[in-house]
Amino acid sequence: MLYLNGQFVRPEDAKISALDRGCLFGDGVYEVIPVYSRHPFRLDEHIARLDASLASIGLANPHTAAEWAGLIREVVRRQDYDDQSVYLHVTRGNAGERDFPFPEGVAPTVLINPARLVTPSAAQKAAGVRAISHADFRWLRCDIKSLNLLPTVLLREAARRQGCAECVMFRDGMLSEGAASNVFVVKDGVIACPPKSHLILPGITYDLVIELAQRHGVPLQVRPVSEAEVRSADELWMTSSTKEVLAIVELDGVAVGDGRVGPLAQRMDALYQDFKNQIMRQGKE
Ligand code: PDD
Repeated sequence: MLYLNGQFVRPEDAKISALDRGCLFGDGVYEVIPVYSRHPFRLDEHIARLDASLASIGLANPHTAAEWAGLIREVVRRQDYDDQSVYLHVTRGNAGERDFPFPEGVAPTVLINPARLVTPSAAQKAAGVRAISHADFRWLRCDIKSLNLLPTVLLREAARRQGCAECVMFRDGMLSEGAASNVFVVKDGVIACPPKSHLILPGITYDLVIELAQRHGVPLQVRPVSEAEVRSADELWMTSSTKEVLAIVELDGVAVGDGRVGPLAQRMDALYQDFKNQIMRQGKE
């Protein structure tokens, strides 16, 4: 069962108008919330990021934080599997015509659609993945989790065609992020990642990795990272709600470091897994 505009319906019964502004313009925002053992992880933070995305596109939030939490928990309860990836989006609704400026008095479309959470297997974690790179040709508001995902679609397809899992993006000689992940580098035992700005999505997993590094005394710098640093890094990783901490062992066909998953990727993933089992699965955050 998914949730659409006030009702819980089977996916095959979920219908929206062909004139929904989400379809016509990608005029909306979304979230992906990981759920472990039926406990949504950092729900308040995801709801706050959704609220920030909505505010940035001038769309009134249709629900309070408490209402969102209730709806999401109800969707989670209605599934017959425990670990979930809850996708949700809010569009500017169906204005009945194709006109660019905001319509007045139109109800937003709210969709909450869960799926099974598929995280990398132990074998994938141990082997790492390959990535391509590309110029970051997205817009200048990448902090908004916008439904306009054509760049992501094109870049991930280009990666897939080359047997790669992600596309690492650079803008003006600097690392921005992955097509659907944040990116960290390691050099000489020190982790570095770009600071939050309008050029990257403020990842919930990114925040957690930084917190875990700080809590466990692992050296980490939040600072601009150049393309040259990425290409000469000892380690490179991607982080996201579904990929967790996943090492990139080859970039554009060139080995990263010695071409194997590095010690800090292993350390941070181990800290992440401990946190997941002891905190997330117990619903403590
Ligand atoms: N993507 N950067 C981009 C561009 C993303 O699309 C994502 C997440 C992230 C990581 O954010 P978080 O740690 O909060 O998942 C960074 C989701 C998973 C997606 O689009 O499916």
